Amino acid sequence: MEDSYISFDRENKVFHLHNKKISYLLKIEDNNVLNHLYFGKAIKHYSGNKSYPRRYRGFSGNVPGNPERGYSKDTLPQEYSSHGSMDYRIPASIIRRENGSNIHDLRYFDYKIEPGKPNLKGLPQSYVEADDEASTLIVTLKDRFQEIYIDMYYTIYHDRAVITRSVKVNNKTDQAIALEKIASMQLDLTNNGVYDQVVSLPGAHMHERQINREDINSGIRSFQSRRGESSHQMNSFIALANHDTSEFAGPAIGLNFVYSGNHDFELEKDQIDQLRVLVGINPYNFSWNLDPGETFQTPEVIMVYSDNGFNDMSNTYHHLLRERVARGGYKLKQRPIVINNWEATFFDFTDEKIEKIVDEAANLGIEMFVLDDGWFGHRNTDNSSLGDWFEYKHKLLKGLKGMSDYVHQKGMKFGLWFEPEMISVDSKLYREHPDYLMQEPNREPSPSRDQFVLDMGRQEVRQNVEKQMTKLLDSVDIDYVKWDMNRNMSDVYSLALNKHNQGEASHRYILGVYELMDHLTTKYKNILWEGCSGGGGRFDAGLLYYMPQSWTSDNTDAVERMKIQYGTSLAYPISSMTAHVSAVPNQQTGRVTPLKTRGDVAMSGVLGYELDLTKLTADEKSEIKRQVSQYKKVRQLVQYGDYIRLKSPFESNIASWMFVNTEKTDVLMFVGRILSSGQPVFHEIFLKGLNPEYQYQDVDTGKTYYGDELMNLGIYIPDFNGDFQSKIYHFKKI
Ligand code: DGJ
Repeated sequence: MEDSYISFDRENKVFHLHNKKISYLLKIEDNNVLNHLYFGKAIKHYSGNKSYPRRYRGFSGNVPGNPERGYSKDTLPQEYSSHGSMDYRIPASIIRRENGSNIHDLRYFDYKIEPGKPNLKGLPQSYVEADDEASTLIVTLKDRFQEIYIDMYYTIYHDRAVITRSVKVNNKTDQAIALEKIASMQLDLTNNGVYDQVVSLPGAHMHERQINREDINSGIRSFQSRRGESSHQMNSFIALANHDTSEFAGPAIGLNFVYSGNHDFELEKDQIDQLRVLVGINPYNFSWNLDPGETFQTPEVIMVYSDNGFNDMSNTYHHLLRERVARGGYKLKQRPIVINNWEATFFDFTDEKIEKIVDEAANLGIEMFVLDDGWFGHRNTDNSSLGDWFEYKHKLLKGLKGMSDYVHQKGMKFGLWFEPEMISVDSKLYREHPDYLMQEPNREPSPSRDQFVLDMGRQEVRQNVEKQMTKLLDSVDIDYVKWDMNRNMSDVYSLALNKHNQGEASHRYILGVYELMDHLTTKYKNILWEGCSGGGGRFDAGLLYYMPQSWTSDNTDAVERMKIQYGTSLAYPISSMTAHVSAVPNQQTGRVTPLKTRGDVAMSGVLGYELDLTKLTADEKSEIKRQVSQYKKVRQLVQYGDYIRLKSPFESNIASWMFVNTEKTDVLMFVGRILSSGQPVFHEIFLKGLNPEYQYQDVDTGKTYYGDELMNLGIYIPDFNGDFQSKIYHFKKI
């Protein structure tokens, strides 16, 4: 059944997904080849008169069943390409059959339109709360000769510039098939000069999500992870843009992959400068066997369109990810201000030491204490006890319960660190189950941080960890859990799989992690769950489905954090980004920045502290007290207001961003200057997104400005003295 958001023009054979903001058009071409027509700004009515021109091009052969010389799958923009049947561009899927052939030729077979959004079993995904929020088109393709079907899911949200995509393969043949590659989506764009650049988020441990923008050149370019997680090195997000696209103008298409394992974003600019984009599970080290009657569902991609630049694209992601991807009791709740003991004590703590930190934290108005790594097994350094999720009695003499009670008596919440996917050789778990690791028998696996990866694809492994964690969560009053993961996957081999199925190991691992996370986060809904992987190694939309926030980076240096948080904001909401004030010289960079700047930067995310509060001077204590009380006043605005990037630290010495509430009555703006100079420029900042008619008052100075003044005249940034300075402005409508 068609609905008001998805129509099918039977005469022209065109599907049109549309809302007030966007349109997506696909057309069944001659011989049932499914052609991509358009994705972009809304088109009210498509008359059906634009079809891809026919032209003979040498060495681009023709469609089986239609010898017409000008009609070739090698140039036709398609919705999902085939392999081995005259499309030489990168294929969306490679499917091997029992006779060894990997040739297929996908043609349109059928379609269905459904209200709402179907559930993708076992996978993280965006969802609807009511069926009238979205509509879904399912177009089925079929191989010309084999009973192999691919259902392509397109969901359009009625009020958002969002289309989500995924595919499901259905093996209806009587033989097993192997999926050697199965992209979640393809986007073929014609050469119209619009999308000539790509933005990606590469990085490294302690250097995550740096904004990289480059021209799309002829040939193939890929942005991928092969590390078993979405990775510090290349985040699972890209945006396509025009060279003229800015933060506030121009077209942008965001592609955010809801997956935490190996991903691949492939771009190919072809012989006539058309662009093919594929997003999916990385085919590297992947293959999946499908027996007759079995199906395989790919993870989802969230596509966002903006014709108003990158800020608008990010804003659409921020709303969708926090409103319709994140779940659990803390989904839209204000997040508590944390004191975490990691950078304060590392492994070297006692109950007594922790109690002193907690006492100070309570005095400063901090709301939650998180006990990080080192409370379990017999862990005093990072080379033991992973897998032993029971308390280290000789270290915590009053036990975890004693500590939790102490923290609660102080009126604070209590949180605990886990690293559920890992195992140390020096552990009870390893002594009992040396076979639980990912490893090939009779080959020594590669260590990293002295630890190994548990084979989370195996049910008995997951159950063991789940049982241990449940026991603890049931016996101690715990309000928050930090779920860490401190190495990448190697020795990808599962003892539970036979030799033909080893290509499934890394995806099964991710599915296993998702299952475990799902059990725990749905059972303990009221716990605040925070993802982490040595900082932001698994900061992706998949994890957000289970955990509404994530440790953004192990780098807590205020200057480097400006870039990391700025880059992260391209694809992820502020409510998902935790940010802590730590001691100076900074542990990671050795830089000394003012406490005020550290506070201002951390206050631009989910604020916390991670330093030894018992070592603070009286001045430092009063500054932290001030920060904590300021943050409590603006927390709703920071965590759930609209965030706007104003000046990029990747492009200049200045970083600036702002937050504004929906009513446009409450505004917070951050300005940071990195290095000072003998002759500083009088930089001006122009605010955005205000109501031009409203009169706003600077809460600190009492000065008033109209919205149009702040946006058009702008304001001079303060005449800062010294390096690494910052200021937060708070304007309120009067
Ligand atoms: C890496 C995390 O990112 C840190 O915050 C800390 O929890 C350590 N692991 C503990 O091992």
